[in-house]
Amino acid sequence: MKEIIKVSSLSKEFGTLKAVNGISFSVSEGEIFGLLGPNGAGKTTTIKMLTTLLKPTSGSAIVAGHDIKSDPNDVRKRIGIVFQDPSLDDDLTGFENLQFHAILYNIPKNRREKRISEMLRLVELEDKASVLVRNYSGGMKRRLEIGRGLVHEPKILFLDEPTIGLDPQTRRHIWDYISKLNKSTKTTIILTTHYIEEADYLCARVAFVDHGRIVALDTPKNLKDMLGGDIVSVNIEEGMERLEKVLRTVKWISSISRRGNLLELNVKEGEKRIPEIVKLADARGVNIGSINLHKPSLEDVFIHYTGKGIREEEGNWKDVMRMHRAARNR
Ligand SMILES: Nc1ncnc2c1ncn2[C@@H]1O[C@H](COP(=O)(O)OP(=O)(O)OP(=O)(O)O)[C@@H](O)[C@H]1O
Ligand SMILES: [Mg+2]
Repeated sequence: MKEIIKVSSLSKEFGTLKAVNGISFSVSEGEIFGLLGPNGAGKTTTIKMLTTLLKPTSGSAIVAGHDIKSDPNDVRKRIGIVFQDPSLDDDLTGFENLQFHAILYNIPKNRREKRISEMLRLVELEDKASVLVRNYSGGMKRRLEIGRGLVHEPKILFLDEPTIGLDPQTRRHIWDYISKLNKSTKTTIILTTHYIEEADYLCARVAFVDHGRIVALDTPKNLKDMLGGDIVSVNIEEGMERLEKVLRTVKWISSISRRGNLLELNVKEGEKRIPEIVKLADARGVNIGSINLHKPSLEDVFIHYTGKGIREEEGNWKDVMRMHRAARNR
């Protein structure tokens, strides 16, 4: 498939902080590609460089056939952006917000209205076209922003945390729009998220980002298959070292990681192995509190690569603050 984005060793430093630390990847035309990682991983900084809003410290990228450093204007004409923080004008109607954008992008007057109507239809906001955006719900605003990002028919749409702060139901709704517009307009989509299910549901391929680096990149299925079986989490009250030591010699366990009182094992047909694990623990006098088995999710793969969950570091505190701000500005 044709490559529409090629990123080579891209880095961004803020003082001594390496916010983005030498990342490389390619995106195919028509693909939905995801950058998944915790708060502060460097997702927005990456998007800002690819959309020419921020100059890289080093490295390069070709976006829609143009170099982000030497050709930023040509890049900008061919991309649409939906920012992480809301950026609509609350005092304008939905239609006016899109109109403002269309003028900014020099869409000729005779085509403007038709294009705006098409986009409002795509995100199902035709009946709200003349309502002030301050009276839109959070989900409606997000849909309008997505529609706005598409007004000038970009080849690539960048979505930075498209569903942040939305309730689960609205989130699913937005997923359907994103997937629908990708299919109907063939627009390439690159999105960032720290919602595991979002990346899993929407993305053809996902890059895990942590501390400014890509630690894994593949289709969600391959990433999950890579773990080599089910996750068996053993909660140990006493004797963690003893059990870990013996389990490390067991050949049907493909990997072991430790998190607090938990030993997490990757095991094929995990349910059949639980009795054996219990036996091994008993034989060494280890006290097991509980055992839990589940099929791997992208979260498990992320833990496998980084030793931590996606939401562990700052929890969702930043999201709460954002929603708070958004509500206050409404
Ligand atoms: N303009 C800036 N000046 C200094 N540091 C910055 C700046 N922008 C981002 N950073 C830092 O760079 C790191 C990466 O930030 P970035 O916003 O790219 O993360 P993110 O993955 O988008 O996180 P989130 O999930 O919270 O949106 C963070 O440590 C952040 O504090
Ligand atoms: Mg961000």
